Amino acid sequence: MDYMLLLLGLSFVLACIHFLTKSLGATKFGPVNLPPGPRPFPVIGNILELGNKPHQALAELSKTYGPIMSLKLGSITTIVISSPHVAKEALQKHDQALSSRTILDGVQFQDHHKVSMVWLPALAPWRNLRKVCATQMFAAQRLDATQAVRQKKVQEVVDYVHENCTSGSVVDIGQTAFTTVMNSVSNTFFSIDLAHYQSDLSQNFNDLVYGVMEEIGKPNIANYFPILRSIDPQGIRKCTTTYVEKIFYIFDGIIDERIQARETMMSKESKDLLDSLLNLAEENSSELSLAVIKHLFLDLFVAGIDTTSSTIEWAMAELLHNPEKLTKAQTELRQVLGKDGLVQEFDIKKLPYLQAVMKETLRLHPPAPFLVPHKAETEVEICSYLVPKTAQILVNVWAMGRDSSVWQNPNSFMPERFIESEIDVKGRDFELIPFGAGRRICPGLPLAQRMVYLMLASLLCTFDWKLANDMKPEDMDMTEKFGLTLHKSEPLLAVPIKV
Ligand code: HEM
Repeated sequence: MDYMLLLLGLSFVLACIHFLTKSLGATKFGPVNLPPGPRPFPVIGNILELGNKPHQALAELSKTYGPIMSLKLGSITTIVISSPHVAKEALQKHDQALSSRTILDGVQFQDHHKVSMVWLPALAPWRNLRKVCATQMFAAQRLDATQAVRQKKVQEVVDYVHENCTSGSVVDIGQTAFTTVMNSVSNTFFSIDLAHYQSDLSQNFNDLVYGVMEEIGKPNIANYFPILRSIDPQGIRKCTTTYVEKIFYIFDGIIDERIQARETMMSKESKDLLDSLLNLAEENSSELSLAVIKHLFLDLFVAGIDTTSSTIEWAMAELLHNPEKLTKAQTELRQVLGKDGLVQEFDIKKLPYLQAVMKETLRLHPPAPFLVPHKAETEVEICSYLVPKTAQILVNVWAMGRDSSVWQNPNSFMPERFIESEIDVKGRDFELIPFGAGRRICPGLPLAQRMVYLMLASLLCTFDWKLANDMKPEDMDMTEKFGLTLHKSEPLLAVPIKV
């Protein structure tokens, strides 16, 4: 406690100096005309207003201050955007100027932020990584080539759930989805299961990835007062570093083994992403080194697994909470695929209701409710307000998904609203941008969609479901827990029944 008081005292002095120097500055727009917002307290600014569910607290504040607000989070000027119209102006008209990142303290381990696709500014090294991912991994042709491995992983989860049917056990949907998505991704990357991978440190890979995400997602005083970063006041960077060292140890083993195996091979044909990246690195090691490849894999695991698996958990939760929608989804699937139908990724286009279920789930439960925070590289003007250089930009897609001026009955789960609608999640329709929009849009979107559809379709087509402990749908806890990903507070426990 004394330690925290000391830190607050120190940050007070520094924040005063910062505040005085900033407020004396001028901008190219003349007198500062920041967007409206609640009055900040000295030093801490508006931090206390965030509470433990900042996406909800800021949605509530935007009802008073409007769709573009400014707040002070410690020493960080933060612009919060809460309407499709303003989001379009920011992410389309000012895409370039606003596409940098505020670097969280927790990700500054092993200089990760200097090579990472997630954290680099949108300049040449970042563009190169995006191009590598788009061509080597997320292009439709590449994903088609690896769909059999994901299909196999989903068949394994169906077999696992079958065992639970026989024994009458309860399935933890979120955990099951996490393991399946992890293995789908690790097989697409390395052709191995990492969820069961035992390192010499005998710690499960799942726990390591989860550990990194949990640490980065913790409220961290150093994010609000960057001047405190050198002392890592809560030990978050230290903890993240420990997890990452173990993850890199596992990656090193996989990469070394592959390099050795390739030496004895006649052909360098790519069987997975690792082969493709090693081929590229051999062609041009100055653009893609082994170290960069390792950081890239880390980014893809951290950004891709939890977001995708929590979407699957929320979709199942909403369907179990709304049994008539569950029946509709199952009827569509069983008509198109047959009861024991083997679901394949190309079946997705024949399943409009399932597609609507995914959009509706992402509208209500975007895994990244503020996207990944952007940063202004230069001053820009949005809706006649100044967005100062270096301001952090939070786009509250959670608030936009529940805005009653955009959606009818915004809090109800109604996939039907998307059946006759052209609205999609690909970044062109700003009322629904759970993957972001503009140059920073999620590169993993095509893979995420395939994994969510495949797993949902298989679980829903092959089994009927009821809630554990004979819970009634109306008694379900549908509250959210804020973190790096927006999770369900209570895990979804359900009992599968053979059809
Ligand atoms: C970035 C959402 C799955 C890799 C993002 C962003 C969002 C997002 C909101 C930030 C966009 C912005 O800053 O404007 C989601 C959702 C997913 C998902 C909702 C699943 C339902 C995946 C998957 C992968 C992935 C499966 C890869 C395996 C990334 C990466 C970035 C990113 C690397 C950083 C891109 C950059 O900064 O340039 N994602 N994502 N995501 N996502 Fe995803």
